[in-house]
Amino acid sequence: MPDSHPLPTTATVRVQRFNPDNDKKPRIQEFKVPLTADTTILDALHYIKAELDGSLTFRRSCRHAICGSCAMNVNGRNMLVCKTPLTRELDQQARVTIKPLPYLPIIKDLVVDRSSFWEQYQRVKPWLIPPDNVPEKEFRVSPEEVEALHNAETCIMCGACYSACQVIAMTKEYIGPHALLKAFLRVLDPRDAAPGERLADLDGGDGVYRCHTIFNCIDACPKNLNPTQAIETLRKLAQKRQAYEVERAERQKTLTQPVK
Ligand code: FES
Repeated sequence: MPDSHPLPTTATVRVQRFNPDNDKKPRIQEFKVPLTADTTILDALHYIKAELDGSLTFRRSCRHAICGSCAMNVNGRNMLVCKTPLTRELDQQARVTIKPLPYLPIIKDLVVDRSSFWEQYQRVKPWLIPPDNVPEKEFRVSPEEVEALHNAETCIMCGACYSACQVIAMTKEYIGPHALLKAFLRVLDPRDAAPGERLADLDGGDGVYRCHTIFNCIDACPKNLNPTQAIETLRKLAQKRQAYEVERAERQKTLTQPVK
């Protein structure tokens, strides 16, 4: 809604509803909610559930853009509703439309089945595989090596990128931007002892070459991360996998020494 408009006292929240026990297909239901400048979209959903219809079903937990559970599709874009002001998404008639994340099976109302999302995450072994010479105190990693990770560790696994991806819309076999971002984090981490094995796994038909570079993941990410760039880096590293493995093995010999 444009800033020049006086703030209305109520907003119309159009919510997609679907109860598999009663509905053949999803439908839109409208609710009037009170509006202030501070009302978030999650506040509006809480109001509906508490005051208008207790059967409305949605996920949320932290309310601080940390847990990633409240990702939904608002006016056609994926976002975290706990950090999105309702006024920002209202149209000229003070309306907003909220749907579940697209391309995933709906369990009820705004709750989707994220099984494929988590299965792909597991597939890339998102944990650190340490070298044999784990130091008693600490690894010594340089600021440049940390910088190279592009803040990928700040991903909160909300699923906004995954369900914005047009490849995921076609096939759940694709690893997906969320899991490839985690794989990037491990492949680039100088402490990880299995970059070659990881790159070999990502090099198949459902891996890095399946990305169509449409950039929807970047647009959807509430943490301003860049999965597309991470995927591009993984592609380049996959092409020189053996040399990269040797480079990593050399680096790990000095991981316990002070960084010059
Ligand atoms: S409720 Fe945790 S990220 Fe929104």
